[in-house]
Amino acid sequence: MQTVQLAVIPGDGIGPEVTAEALKVLEQVAAGRGDGVKFESTRYDLGAERYLATGEVLPDAVLAEIRQHDAILLGAVGGRPGDKSLPPGILERGLLLRLRFELDHYVNLRPSRIYPGAVSPLADPGEVDFVVVREGTEGPYTGNGGALRVGTPHEIATEVSVNTAFGVERVVRDAFARAQKRPRHKLTLVHKTNVLVHAGGIWSRIVDQVATEFPDVAVDYLHVDAAMIFLATDPSRFDVIVTDNLFGDIVTDLAAAITGGIGLAASGNVNPDRTTPSMFEPVHGSAPDIAGQQKADPTAAILSAALLLEHLGLDDAAHSVEEAVVADLAERAPGSTRRTSEIGDAIAGRVAG
Ligand code: NAD
Ligand code: IPM
Ligand code: MN
Repeated sequence: MQTVQLAVIPGDGIGPEVTAEALKVLEQVAAGRGDGVKFESTRYDLGAERYLATGEVLPDAVLAEIRQHDAILLGAVGGRPGDKSLPPGILERGLLLRLRFELDHYVNLRPSRIYPGAVSPLADPGEVDFVVVREGTEGPYTGNGGALRVGTPHEIATEVSVNTAFGVERVVRDAFARAQKRPRHKLTLVHKTNVLVHAGGIWSRIVDQVATEFPDVAVDYLHVDAAMIFLATDPSRFDVIVTDNLFGDIVTDLAAAITGGIGLAASGNVNPDRTTPSMFEPVHGSAPDIAGQQKADPTAAILSAALLLEHLGLDDAAHSVEEAVVADLAERAPGSTRRTSEIGDAIAGRVAG
């Protein structure tokens, strides 16, 4: 019997609603497997409610406990954009990014595929199946910046992008290794080397260096602005995209939109060295506009649970969850208004069968 210790952080908004469905599916996976896998979940009530009640975002002792688990499942954190009672960044930086940084999740893995049955807004997207390897611990996300003369007409604000040879090389190497295992063996670096010459320089040089170790991987480069054109007009050209933390954030919301919507987009914050638990979460946020109404699509959270299973080496289980999602997508009626829990039940039912 394999017991998986799971730290669960449902978070805010639709986070708890979609996480409940992902857990439902994991339970079904456990029930359906003869060889025995068991999930022991510990729930951590972190997020807006706890912060507003206690001022705590992620206490050190809680982080130390989370660290002891095999994997983390997270819903979403953050309040309504523009809501003044919750200063922007408190939860995003203090909870989500702190987990990614402290647990050294340097590969932010975001697969983008138009599943059979998923409806792309593009008229003729072709076969779309690529993965974005987004750097997860550096770039403009490190909080390296500041503001001078705040509130005056002479205010100056900076947000410095940090790109280290160590950090860029390890994520680029991971992206090449993934490209080598995929049928098309193709890697596209997305950056803005024509303007961000320092950061762009290190990324380009390291991609060129690491490429010599992977002679069978074809390397391509696109400026991020042009990459957006191709994502909207010719997304089937992509196989593995490697990019920095901020570009990767933006690229993957568009990737979600063209592959059937943000409700389907899964992600893993992975520490490939396995020295810490990796964390799996939908690409989307807390969606305050639909929270608490059972309107959220839990598919992204469920597919994130499939990535978690794959990361733990439970490939058959991961595959069965993915198959259950594909079967569910194939039967979704256009304009269907199933509740969050109904979608979760339907997918869990297919896993069991
Ligand atoms: P969002 O992804 O929460 O929502 C954008 C739009 O997509 C909304 O209209 C929402 O209703 C819709 N949407 C999102 N998920 C959906 C789902 N599963 N099913 C159906 N529709 C869905 O982005 P936002 O509005 O920019 O951010 C809201 C909050 O979430 C902010 O506080 C932001 O900082 C935070 N956020 C957190 C994460 C995370 O925890 N990983 C990710 C992104 C944003
Ligand atoms: C995401 C989110 C986060 C990010 C925010 C909430 C910190 O947008 O996971 O895509 O920018 O990485
Ligand atoms: Mn994002």
